[in-house]
Formats: sequence, C-alpha cells, structure tokens
Amino acid sequence: MIKGGTIVTADRTYKSDILVDGDKIIEIGENLSGDETLDASECYVMPGGIDPHVHLEMPFMGTHSADNFEIGTRAGLAGGTTMVVDFCLPEPGQSMMEALAIWQQKSGAACADYSYHMAVTWWSEQVFNEMQEVVDRGINTFKHFMAYKGALMVDDDEMFASFQRCAALGAMPLVHAENGDIVATMQQKLLSEGNNGPEAHAYSRPPEVEGEAANRAIMIADMAGVPLYIVHTSCEQAHEAIRRARQKGMRVYGEPLIQHLTLDDSEYSNPNWDHAAQRVMSPPFRNKQHQDSLWAGLQSGSLQVVATDHCAFTIEQKRFGVGDFTRIPNGTGGLEDRMPMLWTTGVRTGRLTMNEFVAVTSTNIAKILNIYPKKGAILEGADADIVVWDPNRSKTISASRQQSCVEYNVFEGKEVIGLPRFTLTRGKVAIEESTIKVEPGHGEFVGREPNAPVNAALSKWKEITAPRKVERRPDLMPAGV
Ligand code: URP
Ligand code: ZN
Ligand code: ZN
Repeated sequence: MIKGGTIVTADRTYKSDILVDGDKIIEIGENLSGDETLDASECYVMPGGIDPHVHLEMPFMGTHSADNFEIGTRAGLAGGTTMVVDFCLPEPGQSMMEALAIWQQKSGAACADYSYHMAVTWWSEQVFNEMQEVVDRGINTFKHFMAYKGALMVDDDEMFASFQRCAALGAMPLVHAENGDIVATMQQKLLSEGNNGPEAHAYSRPPEVEGEAANRAIMIADMAGVPLYIVHTSCEQAHEAIRRARQKGMRVYGEPLIQHLTLDDSEYSNPNWDHAAQRVMSPPFRNKQHQDSLWAGLQSGSLQVVATDHCAFTIEQKRFGVGDFTRIPNGTGGLEDRMPMLWTTGVRTGRLTMNEFVAVTSTNIAKILNIYPKKGAILEGADADIVVWDPNRSKTISASRQQSCVEYNVFEGKEVIGLPRFTLTRGKVAIEESTIKVEPGHGEFVGREPNAPVNAALSKWKEITAPRKVERRPDLMPAGV
C-alpha cells in the first residue's frame, strides 16, 4: 500500500492511497490496508516515467554505446523512469528478424520494462515483407535516419515506400530529421578548412538542416497517409514545421530532449576538448531562442514528449575523434536525470504544471505508442509502475554517484530539487531513496498492438495523382497519331 500521498496524473491531482498486488494497481481509495506500507506523505504519486528514446549497447560509429540494458534501466529507475524504448538497428542488408534476435538477447538483463522501435536502414522486398512480422511481434513503430550518410541513412524514395508500408500495417514511422547529404558536405568543408574540433560538429548541423528534413518528412508522411513522430526535435524550425502540420490536422508528434531544453551551444566553445566532445550529439545543442521555442511547444501541446536519446560513450570512446570531429561518437546520457531535471527546470519554475509533467514524461507517449493505460496511468488494473516523488529531496548531479558507467555527466554540478522516494516497477520496489533494490532480468518486453491500418492523409495528393484518363476527341488529335 502506498499511503498518504497526492496522486498526480496527466488529468488531475487528488489525495488517495493505492493498493498494489503482484504487478498491478488493484485499488485506489481512502483508508485501504495492505501487508506492506510505503509512506508517501508529502509526496506526489505519479505514473513511472517512460523514456521512448534510448540506445543501450548500440553498435554505432565504430564502437557501441557504453551503458547496457541492465545499467540503463537501473539508471532510469533511479530517476523515476520505469520503461524505456530502445532502437533495434539492422545493419544495411541484415534481416530485421535477425537484428531483433540480437536485441532480445541484449535486453535479457533489463531491470525495468522495455520495448523496441525497429529501424528501416535499407529497403528491399525482404524488408517490406519483414515489417509485417515485426508488427506481429508487438513493434508498431519504425525508425528512419535521414542523417548518417553512408551508414544508417535512407533516401526519400525508401522513406516514402516504408511510410506507405507503415500506413498499411497500422504502424507509425519515426524520423531522425537532419539532411544527411548537407551535413556530409558541411563536414568535409569544415575539415578541409582545418576546423577539426568538436565545435565544428555544431557548425556542420545548423538548425536549417533539421528544419528542412522535418518539413520533408512531414510532407512525405502526409503523402503516405500516415502519422509521424519526429525524434529529438531540437530547434525552432523543426518545431514550427510540426506546429504547422498539426494546425492543418496532421498527426505529427515532436519529442524534445531534456538535454536540448536545458543545455545550450556554448558547451561547444569550452576550451577543454573532452568537455566539448562529451556534449557532441545530433542534433547539437542550440541557443536560447531554440530552447524557448521547445519549452513553448511543451506548454502549448505542439510538442508532446520529453525523452533523453540516452546514448552514452566513455571518455576513451569520445577521444576516437581527436583531430577529426566527424569521428566523435554522437550521443550523451540522461536517463537518470530526465525527470529530476525536468521537474527542477520545468515544474519548479512554473513553466509546466505537475499534470503536464506527467503528460510529457509518461502518459502522452503511452498513448502514442498504444500501451495506455497499461503504462502511463495510475488506474486500477494498470501496471504498478509508480514513482513516489519527493518534491523536497535534492541533490547535486555528479558522475561520481550516477548509475551510468561513463565517467562524466553532461549535467554535472546541476542542483536538482525533486527526486523519487520510491520507484516501483510492476509492483516491485526498485528504488528506496538512495538504495537500489532492482534485480537484473525483472524487466519484460512490452508488446504494442498496431493502430487501425488506415490513417487517412489530409492532403489532396492522392486524389490529384490518382490516374484519371481523359477521353480525347479523335477529330482534335494531332495528325499522324
Ligand atoms: O547523437 C545521437 N543522437 N546519437 C544517438 C543516435 C541518434 O541519432 O539518435
Ligand atoms: Zn537520432
Ligand atoms: Zn537516438
């Protein structure tokens, strides 16, 4: 029994106790009794966070991200996140089912529940066919990289084909929106001019390359008649594309990261190479104008989800890029810090209400991924993924005390106020203040049903391009035809 707390959901705030039995919430009410009691007095009791964008032990840029499923999910739990969604990445030419088997192996030691997005990294009849099997296995989202030319990137024709396939299967495409051709050109230009430091990473990926790709993906999705989810939305141009599309009635979702909301591009001017390289991720950190736009998007609802894109690399791995910024593995951590950082910079400053905090860290993505109310809810029958949030607990973020195995933290030194007192993962107490009680292997795969297979496009494109043969008058035909 979770006693004496104030329940905060995406919809409302009220005082009540919660009774958990096994995996589930079985009763919500006053004066309940249970065998074991967790004291939630002075706390907010919220649905556990869902981080829909993590890369655990991912092969990438000649290495693999340092935190595995056990470490990553433990880091999540320590910060109130009870479910993660990782990206299964077939190598170009590799079968999706083969890649999925590898990911299933890797996620066996997860401490909290997890799911996968499947990446479309190449296109063929085999991929077309396998997408059905992937959906049958409970994966209803397909990721497309518009960047990382020569590696993961897909072209527009491949994206269009895949988006149409998603529409037919009731699945949703995701895109990493950056124009990979232009990034590659800018990288070569910068290198040839002797700009090889981590600051050049940001110059090679200005907001325009993201805005262009976001607009392009939105138009392609509309032509394919499918909703679209744009990961790590980091700039005003991409946000505006999303907002404009939504105003026209398109189902387009945007996901800012906690890093982009709270850290800016001045990080790359740090004279310490390691400091700057440790912040190299794509898209790069932006200036205040872009940050303000992202916050406004969360407030107004034009952006729906705050994620981390947790993709941690050690100091040694980052140093692969000494002398050539294009070889610095792209990615930063954040899983443990997402909820405390967003509470501190969002709720405590008045930029977000507590209910909006729950919406953008948990409930919205549960609905988008079609796993609500199993996840993302405090309701009888829902999974007991619960965070008992103490708004008065504080700490200074430090790599020396974090779960992640990397030696640094991009939020180092930041004071957060608002931390879990308890985190429950499917009924098990995983975190009790600073004590970690999770068992590796407790986490289970969460399958996600497809949506209805027809997501009508709003654009008139299909009608315009439907072949309509015009009957010509033979007497008006040019001679000799
Ligand atoms: O820099 C990043 N974001 N690394 C992880 C892979 C990706 O693009 O999401
Ligand atoms: Zn990405
Ligand atoms: Zn990512």
